[in-house]
This record gives sequence, C-alpha cells and structure tokens, in this order.
Amino acid sequence: MTDPLLRFRAEFPILERTTYLVSNSLGAMPRTVPERLAEYAAAWGERGVRAWAEGWWQMPVTVGDEIAPLIGAGPGEVAMLPNVTIAQAAILSALDYTPPRDTIVMTSLDFPSVRYVHDTLATRLGARIVTVPSDDGIGIDTARLLEAIDERTRLVSISYVLFRSAYIMDVDAICRRAHDVGALVALDAFHAVGVIPVDVKQCGADFLTGGVLKWLCGGPGGCFLYVAPAVRDTLAPSLTGWQAHARPFAFEGAMDYAAGAFRWLNGTPVIPALYAAVEGPRCVRRAGIEAIRAKSIRQTSRLIALADARGYRVSAPRDPERRGGTVAFDVPHGYEVAQALLARDIIVDYRPEAGIRVAPHFYTSDEEVESVVEAIDEILARESWRAFAGKRSVVT
Ligand SMILES: Cc1ncc(COP(=O)(O)O)c(C=O)c1O
Repeated sequence: MTDPLLRFRAEFPILERTTYLVSNSLGAMPRTVPERLAEYAAAWGERGVRAWAEGWWQMPVTVGDEIAPLIGAGPGEVAMLPNVTIAQAAILSALDYTPPRDTIVMTSLDFPSVRYVHDTLATRLGARIVTVPSDDGIGIDTARLLEAIDERTRLVSISYVLFRSAYIMDVDAICRRAHDVGALVALDAFHAVGVIPVDVKQCGADFLTGGVLKWLCGGPGGCFLYVAPAVRDTLAPSLTGWQAHARPFAFEGAMDYAAGAFRWLNGTPVIPALYAAVEGPRCVRRAGIEAIRAKSIRQTSRLIALADARGYRVSAPRDPERRGGTVAFDVPHGYEVAQALLARDIIVDYRPEAGIRVAPHFYTSDEEVESVVEAIDEILARESWRAFAGKRSVVT
C-alpha cells in the first residue's frame, strides 16, 4: 500500500537530490518558501517603511497564529521570537524568586543553550536550580522528577522531548504535580511540535517554547512562545522592549506592558525569518499530526530493529509511546561513517555519546529508512569511512 504522506515529497525539492534524514536538526525547505521571501522583498522594495503598518509589526503574532493549531493554542496566544533561548530567557525574567518560592526544577538532559540561560540569568535573579539526573542517559524517571517538585518550586522548566534520546517526558503528570504545589511549568517543545501531538490546553503547561526550523520545516529565526492566558497578563517579563509596550509608537519614557502575546515580545522582529516560517507549518497541518506520528512510530521502530540486528547500541526509548522522532545508534567510527553518508548525499548527523542520529519525517520513504542502514553496512565493510578520519568539521 502506498503511504499517503509521500504525496508531500513533491513539496520539498531537496528530497529529489538527497536522502534527507535530518529533520531533527533542520527540516527540509518547502518549495514555496522562495515565493514568501519574494513577497518580503517586494514589500520592502515597493512599500518601504509603510510595510510596518501593512502587516510587519503584527507579524510575530499573526505568524504565531499559524503555529497555534499545532500546539492546541488559540489565536493571539503565540508570539514569535528569534530563538528558543530568548523565549526561555523572557520566561525566566518574568518570575520572582524570593524565598521560599525560589526553585527551578530541571533535568540533566535539557538542551545546553536553555540550561546556560537558566544557570546564568535565573540564578542571578535569585533562583536555585535543582537538577533531576537520568539513570540511563535516555530518560528521566517520572517519579523522581515529581518528587523534586515541592512547595519551594517556582518553575518546572524541562524539555518536552529530550534532544539527545528523543525521550518523551510525561508532561501531563508533571504539570499536574507542579500545579498541585503552586508551581508553573515551562516546556521546551522544540523536539515535540511537528512530530508528536502537542496540546497545551490538555496538559496545562503555563509556557511552551519551540521553533519551526526542525520538524516544522520553517527555517531558522522562527521560534515561538505560548503563555497560558491565565498567567500571561499577570507577569511582566524584564527581558522586554518596545514591541511589548501598550503604545509603542507613542515613544513614552516608561514601560507600560501590552496585554496578550505582544507583552512577551521585545525589540524589532526578524521579518524575513517570519515570511519563511509559515510554509512548513502549513504543510505539517495539511499532513495531519496524527498521521505523522503514526508513521514516525513505524519508521523509528524499523530503524531500531535494523540497528538491533547489527548489535548497535541504540540511544532511544524502546517504548514507542515514549519515543519521539529520532533514533540514534552507535556504530563503530560513528563520526567518520556519518561523514561518509553525507558524501553520498544521505543526510544525517552525529552526536558524541549518542552516535549517528537518523530522523525520518512525514516525507521519508520506507526505502530511505532501509537505505541508510544498508549504506552504513557498506561503508563499514569497505572501510570507506577511513577517508574521513581526522577531518572534523566545526559543525558536526
Ligand atoms: C530541545 C532544544 N531546545 C533548544 C534548542 C536551541 O534553541 P535556540 O533556538 O535558542 O537555538 C535546541 C536545538 O537543537 C533543542 O534541541
């Protein structure tokens, strides 16, 4: 039976030339993106400064409306920001860490950039960070995490899906426990939105951040922040700017926060990135997240079976319910093998401790899933990885 999602392959030109298995890093570009970028250039070129009043100023929220259905949010509830680190910093800058409510609960497997901003900004604001360790480097024991959340907790700030292993956290239980003790929850959902169903209203997250460049195929510079309406206007982020002002063009001397998603913005938005950002999420919405998820489970299960058959150590959850879109497995000479795959236009990446990461997406064929592992067999058998020994790229 043909896979109905393969009809989307024609939307992504890079699939004609490569086996593209790296949507966990940078999703493929939809063929319609150049048209959107031409619209940007036409607006700037022909309308000049009038473009701000004709849509540019509102774009962080109008583009956020394109993301909202993918996370179960409503219109006007999502603000676009240039990256997740900034979005997380905005959250941290809005909270009060006066004891006894001074603690942020994280895990040892959250993304380093997000971790850095917690360790620097939040601690400078007086927060104490409690880190829940992992037993196996793949997941975080839910009971242990729940135990770490108590009356001292101001914020639970964790990844929805762990970047290294694609482990899906039990966000429903975590939000419940946090709210029971009066804490808020911030989810970094970069590896969730676009590949697994996400519903902020159902899980009850207070904040959710993510970006379009991976699973949403929207390119760099389009990240998003959802803040639950119940807390949104009660908080005042000190990482702020004139886009968050109630009357930005009055150029008043004092800050007076806008209401709604605008309240969480800061300076001038990165307009070209927002033009590029919309086409990928539209494709994902058309494909349907339930169909994408079912296919992802099928193809990641197959990858694990292929890796197991060869005795490779797999760094991904065995339970499909807990597994996101990526399977990493350790093959001998992993870095060099990954380079040899790239040289054959089989696009994957390599991460120390995890190995070669393979991320099929809705546009991936089953043959491509088989072919990457067969290519690894051949590279190892012929020792063609040796050509890449000792050559390290800045971006691995
Ligand atoms: C879970 C997670 N959070 C955050 C980031 C990066 O955030 P930023 O948009 O600040 O570069 C990544 C990038 O790979 C990620 O995997």
